Amino acid sequence: MNQRPIGVFDSGLGGLTAVRQLRRLMPSENIIYFGDTARVPYGNRSRDTLLKYARQDMGFLRGFDLKAVVIACGTVSTNCLEDLQAESSIPVIGVVEPAVRRAAEISSARRVGLAATRASVSSGAYERAFRRLDPALEVYPLACPLLVPLVEEGRCRPGDAVIETVAAEYLLPLREREIDTLVLGCTHYPLLTDVIGALMGPSVALVDVGAEAARACRDLLSCRDELAQRPAGSVSCYTSDRAVNFQRLAATFLGEDAAVPIQQIDITKY
Ligand code: DGL
Repeated sequence: MNQRPIGVFDSGLGGLTAVRQLRRLMPSENIIYFGDTARVPYGNRSRDTLLKYARQDMGFLRGFDLKAVVIACGTVSTNCLEDLQAESSIPVIGVVEPAVRRAAEISSARRVGLAATRASVSSGAYERAFRRLDPALEVYPLACPLLVPLVEEGRCRPGDAVIETVAAEYLLPLREREIDTLVLGCTHYPLLTDVIGALMGPSVALVDVGAEAARACRDLLSCRDELAQRPAGSVSCYTSDRAVNFQRLAATFLGEDAAVPIQQIDITKY
């Protein structure tokens, strides 16, 4: 048993979709969440900038005596995971490997699509991970930069003409590739499951990378006998921009009604 908290960070609010999955799988865990709302989006930035930001995010979380860190951000996971793991004394879990394992497990056609940010796609991290696991598997990566701002505007429900038009335009090439599995490689995309699911059709399975990272975290802690034991765990949120903006959307991403404590910090000090 280990009662220390799990740290989770993301470029902004989107990572709360991973927290939602962590809470579902491990309701006894205490979670410290940092969302870099002052510097979101990360998805179009260079690797150098991403590494600088990610090191500061880890530096802030280091102050909480954590037992593990989950990088909920697809963009940081694809660009900086190895560096952050090498610099950390506790386990650091990214979203790529767990999602790739899951997609390879369920794809019978061996044709998998990847929807993610520009920086994630250009890193080539998913292709490398798929190749390590199964070189015969074909991967079709696709950058969808407009989806994140639309989700942040709350445009994520079926029937919303704007998100449906943009998603249909983006996903058309993947539909033509006849994939049977689509990795939703970005924190915000789980909120588009209904929209994307309807566009891709029932023959395409969707992989939620936050859910897979949460499962990997649970398996790791269980294997190390480090799961917490308490009646109910808590979530404490920290942001780098005004907490009121965070509060507005947090409930949607987290899927919980109860308000979570949110505090603003200066991330440039770390
Ligand atoms: N958190 C980012 C990711 O999962 C999406 C938002 C951004 O571009 O910062 O890749």
